[in-house]
Amino acid sequence: MRKPIIAGNWKMNKTPAEARALAQALVPLLKNAQADVVLCVPAVDMAAVREALRGTGIALGAQNMHWQASGAYTGELSAAMLLDAGCAYVILGHSERRQYFGETDEFVNRKVRAAVAAGLIPIICVGETRVQREEGYTDTLVAYQTLTALTGLSAVQVAGVVVAYEPVWAIGTGLVATDEQANETIGVIRQAVRGKYGDAAADALRIQYGGSMNPANAHGLMQQPEIDGGLIGGASLKAEDFAKVVNF
Ligand code: 13P
Repeated sequence: MRKPIIAGNWKMNKTPAEARALAQALVPLLKNAQADVVLCVPAVDMAAVREALRGTGIALGAQNMHWQASGAYTGELSAAMLLDAGCAYVILGHSERRQYFGETDEFVNRKVRAAVAAGLIPIICVGETRVQREEGYTDTLVAYQTLTALTGLSAVQVAGVVVAYEPVWAIGTGLVATDEQANETIGVIRQAVRGKYGDAAADALRIQYGGSMNPANAHGLMQQPEIDGGLIGGASLKAEDFAKVVNF
């Protein structure tokens, strides 16, 4: 059995003071969590959130990373920096980074390999746009995005990463994939991984759903056999809502 993993993606929200308050509010609400819980916060919030989470078992994560170890890459952060700041996870290839910052599948793959080599667990985001779904490309696209992102990893390494299936049309829109749509597409991702990396990797790999997931729909989504967790945007910014999703 795969242990569920629920991650909050705070995106570009919360100053350090606000971040500390949110993390402190979450700690008591999550003390009986049955799932692995991760808070992926802005880099400037990491110190405050790390302090608030100390001793709780709730993990800290980042939202992006550069693939190089160091150098002249103004504004970027390396895997070593994230590890030293207390991160265990890093979101890579989020659709907002692909859409607004030109991240390609090849960039995502470089980042995934650098993260895994450094000992960070990547949360690799894949998903189709509305037009791609309407045109019938969803399965081909998510399989391609996933296998490209994982290129160069061993089957054992693949077993330890997290994939987040986030249909772009469901992010921040209030439109949520149906339980069946999400389950089916996550099944497609798992089959693609099975074909290339074998049963052990495919059966161990945790695949989240993301896109307007909230307290009202979390239970139904999490009942689906292929769905191993959630990557939560808007609903992760309110302590009560995020706790309800975690405690689905
Ligand atoms: P929302 O939950 O706000 O739709 O965002 C989902 C997401 O992009 C998480 O990474």
